[in-house]
Amino acid sequence: MADVMSYIDENKNRFIEELFEFLRIPSISTDDENKKDVQKAAEFISEKLKSLNFDNVQIHPTKGHPIVYGEYLKAGSDKPTVLIYGHYDVQPPDPVDLWDNPPFEPTIKDEKVYARGSADDKGQLYIHVKSIESVLKTKGELPVNVKFILEGEEEIGSPNLVPFIEDHKKLLACDMVLISDTAMFAKDTPSITYGLRGLTYMEIRLTGPNRDLHSGVYGGAVENPANVLCEIIAKLKDEKGRIQIPGFYDKVKPLSESEKEEYSRLPFDESEYKKDLGIAEVKGEEGYTTLQRASARPSLDVNGLWSGYQGQGAKTVLPAKAGAKVSMRLVPDQDPNEIAQLFRDYVTKLAPKTVTVEIVEHHGGHASVIDINFYGIQAAAEAFEYVYGQKPLFSREGGSIPIVADFQKILGVDSILMGFGLDSDSIHSPNEHFSLIDFVRGIKTSAHFMEVLDKYVPENV
Ligand code: BES
Ligand code: MN
Ligand code: MN
Repeated sequence: MADVMSYIDENKNRFIEELFEFLRIPSISTDDENKKDVQKAAEFISEKLKSLNFDNVQIHPTKGHPIVYGEYLKAGSDKPTVLIYGHYDVQPPDPVDLWDNPPFEPTIKDEKVYARGSADDKGQLYIHVKSIESVLKTKGELPVNVKFILEGEEEIGSPNLVPFIEDHKKLLACDMVLISDTAMFAKDTPSITYGLRGLTYMEIRLTGPNRDLHSGVYGGAVENPANVLCEIIAKLKDEKGRIQIPGFYDKVKPLSESEKEEYSRLPFDESEYKKDLGIAEVKGEEGYTTLQRASARPSLDVNGLWSGYQGQGAKTVLPAKAGAKVSMRLVPDQDPNEIAQLFRDYVTKLAPKTVTVEIVEHHGGHASVIDINFYGIQAAAEAFEYVYGQKPLFSREGGSIPIVADFQKILGVDSILMGFGLDSDSIHSPNEHFSLIDFVRGIKTSAHFMEVLDKYVPENV
């Protein structure tokens, strides 16, 4: 029988062409105008599962975008079951004029594919579809059971996925979840992510006078909501980078000495980091390193800010309204709803009587940490080493995949975060790209993982 790795090498050009077809579908989940495209992406990927001869392939409609499911249970009930999660929706490509190629016309440059969704997450989820094809085509069967759950609403906070999981616990029963939707520590430096941050996303809307005013006629006598907004935002953090919302840190566990030591062992080059971002200095909470600040500590950032005149030239106006979107990244034990309430209370208290305040809560989610001694993680580590020729590092990441905590809570299983992206892939930004070398290495890693997993199952499981 043909060897799996050579099958992957021989078929990689076709795999890449298929991925391009997937990337051409503008499955932007947040935009109603793309609803049909999200459906089309669901159909594309469900067809691919069918062509693997997976059973029970379904496109489950939801109130929003559909959930795609498919299963291979022929390995038998004495073998582990892996639930592969991924998302086929993408972020909007805006601002489109900053792209060097149209965002939905995949373009190869320097062995990377440039397209919206290439790294987040179509390219990464397609890795598993092709790894399974490769094992099936060369061995005739899979040594483990595999289920796919692929959603079209990750980028809008997965509003319909949690209820789906709750309603389909039996269907989704598994021993572990496998997710490729994170980044490697660095180029050619594979890593397994064992922690993700949570998220609380708020919007502040301030209203002052009942209409925009002439800033000469009224300025100095009437409150300006834009000024108030700046004062409020300035009070969210102090000069040491500490978040000032009362109670915000109550549930944050300090970093243990051993974890600090783990962090210091990671090969991080701060001057490269600064150079890559074009910044003179890094900035964050006092007493922590850049890596700790960006993954193990909570943070607060203004994500959007508006008020007054934005057009060309100058307009002397005292705006009637001002607003901001503020998100907070959370660490384990911080509850996103509690943090939302603390934010609400604090901002309401800070706002003077001269303005009215409206505070809106957007989607959020829990942080997660995973025990790296879990046998699935050990199998994944072997697979990375087999393909990349080096042991993967273990690191925490600052981004959020809230469903990881929900899988833990509802199905009682841990996730293996087997990421093949890079922080420099520009996900959510113009010119998002994904290394085709890592696309192929990812397929090999996933295939090898399927092949070695069973041997890691502990006796008493
Ligand atoms: N794949 C990302 C999350 C991610 C990115 C994890 C980089 C680790 C490293 C995911 O698609 C995403 O963008 N998540 C959102 C949160 C979600 C609730 C909208 C995020 O992190 O902002
Ligand atoms: Mn993603
Ligand atoms: Mn994303």
